[in-house]
Amino acid sequence: MNSKIRLVSGDITRLEVDAIVNAANSSLLGGGGVDGAIHRAAGPELLAECRTLHGCKTGQAKITGGYRLPAKFVIHTVGPVWNGGKSHEPELLADCYRNSFALASQHALTSLAFPAFSTGVYNYPHTPAAEIAVRETLLALEQYPHVERVLFVCFNPETQTIYETLLENELTDES
Ligand code: AR6
Repeated sequence: MNSKIRLVSGDITRLEVDAIVNAANSSLLGGGGVDGAIHRAAGPELLAECRTLHGCKTGQAKITGGYRLPAKFVIHTVGPVWNGGKSHEPELLADCYRNSFALASQHALTSLAFPAFSTGVYNYPHTPAAEIAVRETLLALEQYPHVERVLFVCFNPETQTIYETLLENELTDES
């Protein structure tokens, strides 16, 4: 198991990492869930910068400052809405992780925190979403060896159990 991966429980907005990754919508102008929490914690300057980005397509990612967050940057990515699984949802969700890591690499970021994209309002089933998260993260850690720490942020016990099972005994739980 990769010792760079950790599970944490709770609110992503409190984490001191180079970047937290936001489960945004394609407007990038805020919303509910983790997106709302990030905008509230970062302050109105985040929305002002997001307005300059002219949105983001599903599976793509864009970066902004972190403003009042402890994180230096926010990477905004747009997960797919679950529509039964035959609308390229798995590929699009994998793209969210790939493009987030690629942006992090371009900015030489070494620590990242991910929420469980698409598993809230967008209704993606939890276990397949976590499988994609873990698979893509392991691939990215090979591709980008300068990344030192990846946190999967589990906002509820169900998510935490799924990630724990996937990562089995190989984790040190920081929650
Ligand atoms: N910290 C960490 N994880 C969180 C937090 C938090 N503060 N709050 C919620 N989660 P969701 P989506 C978890 O609905 O499904 C927004 O309106 C939550 O428990 O935030 O990708 C956007 O603007 C779940 O596991 O995102 C979009 O319109 C995960 O974050 C839409 O929701 C994702 O849930 C995106 O839907």
